[in-house]
Amino acid sequence: MLRVAYPATLIPDVLRELPEGVELVPVSDKMGHDVEVDVWIPDPYPTRAQRTWPHLRGVKLVLSMLAGTEWIPGTVGPHVTICNAHGAHNVATAEWTLGAILSMLKQFPLFLDIQRSGNWRRRNEASAAYAAITGDTRAHHPPVMLEDLTGKTVLLVGHGAIGKEIERMLAPFYVDVLRVARTARKNPEVHAVSELDGLLPRADVVVLILPFSAETRWLIDQPEIALMRQGALLVNAARGPIVNTDALVEALNAGRIRAAIDVTDPEPLPENHPLWSCPNLLVTPHIGASSPYFARNALRVAAAELRRYMNGEPLHNVVQEGEGPENRDQGIGNRE
Ligand SMILES: NC(=O)c1ccc[n+]([C@@H]2O[C@H](COP(=O)([O-])OP(=O)(O)OC[C@H]3O[C@@H](n4cnc5c(N)ncnc54)[C@H](OP(=O)(O)O)[C@@H]3O)[C@@H](O)[C@H]2O)c1
Repeated sequence: MLRVAYPATLIPDVLRELPEGVELVPVSDKMGHDVEVDVWIPDPYPTRAQRTWPHLRGVKLVLSMLAGTEWIPGTVGPHVTICNAHGAHNVATAEWTLGAILSMLKQFPLFLDIQRSGNWRRRNEASAAYAAITGDTRAHHPPVMLEDLTGKTVLLVGHGAIGKEIERMLAPFYVDVLRVARTARKNPEVHAVSELDGLLPRADVVVLILPFSAETRWLIDQPEIALMRQGALLVNAARGPIVNTDALVEALNAGRIRAAIDVTDPEPLPENHPLWSCPNLLVTPHIGASSPYFARNALRVAAAELRRYMNGEPLHNVVQEGEGPENRDQGIGNRE
């Protein structure tokens, strides 16, 4: 019988998602012994998962509970097949993105500050903040404190499972959507990433929702930020190192752009890091996919993949094809 290692910390309810006919083996980073298993569903917290890996023997297939799998190949080595949780967290991550965009355009972080100060008159700071970041210094009456999302241009950098869900949720706002992916295509029009520089000056909101890789490291750096409109909003729902943090800190402190980021580089963001005190910034601590349905949705995707694996069918969400069963026990990483 196929032996499937899963995080012992999962609540028993969600395990019902996994197929019958497999032996479920709870594993954790506190295990004092090694176990022989065929499939590993790692803990969604990478550090815990990395501490668990040295106790696992015989793993041929890793089924990640996350869409991003960047730490896994370096830990398990090239001989293990790795699948991600493609599609599992579309709704939660897209809702975070919509929430972040609206929070920034409606200046909720500033209004929360004002609420905590208990000083109604500070509301005037919102019109000053609007004028400073957008450059719209006309004497509006009444003063402008909030902006509309409706009618703005949103550039989606990444048009995969989550990018498409964000576009679906943006539909009621009648925004103009520009799309970027690795390769260009039509219906709807998606631009190749090589066209990014020409698109950045057209966008009011730039959403990063693509995987981190050698190609996407610092995709948004000082030259790309320089191409963005004054006061444009950069939303990073993807991975921290897709943006050069130093360039972001500089642009925020200079009042050039605003940003809402769920991910940072470094991550976790250390105390006293300059990002914490940047103006026009909303930071959330990598919680974009959080939901009461996180584990259920992730295990549903893993279960479908597991059924295909058991039936000898092609897997759908492979991010690394293992190099061959004859080498499967030669994983690298921190295994002794
Ligand atoms: N903040 C969070 O908690 C959270 C939650 C979930 C996911 N994420 C992140 O979001 C990422 C995207 O997830 P997804 O499920 O939407 O992935 P996906 O379905 O695989 O889609 C990825 C998209 O990114 C594009 N892309 C890949 N490499 C690129 C490159 N070098 N340049 C330009 N575009 C590139 C792809 O282009 P093609 O369509 O041309 O292949 C595709 O459109 C994940 O990898 C993960 O890191 C973060």
